[in-house]
Order: sequence, then structure tokens, then C-alpha cells
Amino acid sequence: MSDRIVILGALSAIAEATARRFAASGAALVLVARDEARLKELAADLMVRGATCAHIALCDLAAEPDPEGRMRTWSDLLGGVSVALIAYGVLGDQAASEKDLALTQQQIAVNFTSAALWAQAAANLLERQRGGTLLVIGSVAGDRGRASNYVYGAAKAGLATLTQGIAHRLARSGARAVTIKPGFVDTPMTAGLAKGGPLWATPAQVADVIVRAAEKGGPVAYAPWFWRYILLIIRAVPAFLFHKTKL
Ligand SMILES: NC(=O)c1ccc[n+]([C@@H]2O[C@H](COP(=O)([O-])OP(=O)(O)OC[C@H]3O[C@@H](n4cnc5c(N)ncnc54)[C@H](OP(=O)(O)O)[C@@H]3O)[C@@H](O)[C@H]2O)c1
Repeated sequence: MSDRIVILGALSAIAEATARRFAASGAALVLVARDEARLKELAADLMVRGATCAHIALCDLAAEPDPEGRMRTWSDLLGGVSVALIAYGVLGDQAASEKDLALTQQQIAVNFTSAALWAQAAANLLERQRGGTLLVIGSVAGDRGRASNYVYGAAKAGLATLTQGIAHRLARSGARAVTIKPGFVDTPMTAGLAKGGPLWATPAQVADVIVRAAEKGGPVAYAPWFWRYILLIIRAVPAFLFHKTKL
């Protein structure tokens, strides 16, 4: 049962929607992010919605020197972890990161390197517990490299492969790992994009997929489900045709 939840990047729009779902079923939560005032507001809101408790923890998730130690502390607060959700990230500016390699490095450091360390720390904890679920938010952008966002996509692809490996490693331990792959979601991250139309989802729709994945399924869950088939087609397009598109 998903009742002891650690959320890394708890102030992302998708994480907040997911936390509300867990709170409504009486979960105990540790909310990790770097804005104390907003964390306190979120924790108070989750208590009103039914959370058993909502601890807050300040952390720059891309600069934490001891992910394993912090995971152990949060686990001790909750009496074990049933779900660890990695839900932070940056979209970055593809064109700018082609010109300035420091921006490429920064995007990969946040979206892949740091998230990979948190995923390893969570996997070690869940393996020791012999139970619980690691949920990692990737992206459909990781399924095929495209000119418009391949730095972000590559980081998410690496993270998905890492999570797939963790799922394989944990299979015999009773613990699980799932990559959540959202498509377009209306959040602050996509503020610069034209929104609307049937492909756009709300954070609440993605939260539904995440909460379901906490209980069963995986090792990959597209959010919403139809992206699995869209990406199946996109991956199948031969390069000589794909390179004629502007995606
Ligand atoms: N929106 C989409 O269309 C979409 C699609 C596919 C996948 N995703 C993925 O879904 C996840 C959630 O994104 P969202 O759309 O909900 O975005 P969001 O609302 O813009 O939230 C992104 C969050 O990441 C946090 N963050 C970034 N770097 C951090 C760091 N070093 N330490 C701590 N927190 C950090 C930000 O915190 P600060 O405010 O402190 O910077 C912010 O709360 C991300 O992994 C994203 O890549 C989103």
C-alpha cells in the first residue's frame, strides 16, 4: 500500500497534483524542494486533504552531497518508504544549449546526473526494505532524439534506461521501479509553448497515472496512455523521412 511517500521536487505542478492524490488516501509524506515558504503552504494543504503527516525538507536536489544519507533520514521519519517519486527537472533552452555548452552540461547535470544518484539511493533503500516502489518521471522526449529538444530528451532517455535497469535489479527483491513518461502537460515548465488541443494533459491526469503505477504495472507508464502508441509510430519512422520534418 502506498502510504509512506517521499517526493523529490515536491513543488513541481505534477508532483503537487500527485501529492494531493496520496494525501486524500491518508498517506504520510516527506516533501523535498528548495522553497521553504511554498513547501509549508503545500504541507498545510495536504494535511487539510487528509494526509497523516507532511514533513518538509529543503534541498537543492542537483547539489546534494549525500543522497543516501538524506534518503535514510526521510525513511526514518516515515518508518520506511513505500513510494519514492523523483519529480523535478528543467526543460532548458535547446538553441541556447547548442551555443553554450555550459548550458548543455547544466541540463544533463540536473535532469540526468543528479536524478540518477537519487534513483540509486532510493533503489538501495527499497532493496534493503525488500519492498516499495521507485517512480521516476522521464518524458516521451526521451524516446526519439529530435532537433528541437534533444539535450533534454537525451537526459530523460538516460534516466529511463537507468530506471529500467533498477527495475530489473529489484525484480527479485519485492521492490519495483517505474518510469513515468508524460507527453505535453500544462505546467509552468511548458509556459513558453502554445497550449491546447487533445494532446495536452493536466497535471491531475498525469497524477492518476503515477498513483496507479505506485501500486502496479510498469516498468514504463505513458501519461496519458495514448503516448505509447504515438511514440511507437514516431520511433518507426525511417530517418530519411524523419529528417525531412521539423519536430
Ligand atoms: N510539463 C511537461 O510537459 C512535462 C512533460 C514530460 C515530462 N515532464 C517532467 O515532469 C517533471 C515535473 O515537471 P513539471 O512540468 O511539473 O514542471 P514544473 O512545475 O516547472 O516543476 C519543475 C520543478 O523542478 C524543480 N527543480 C528543478 N531543479 C531543481 C533542483 N536542483 N532542486 C530542487 N528542485 C528543482 C523546480 O523547483 P524550483 O522552483 O525551485 O526551480 C520546480 O518545482 C519533470 O521531471 C519534467 O521534466 C514534464
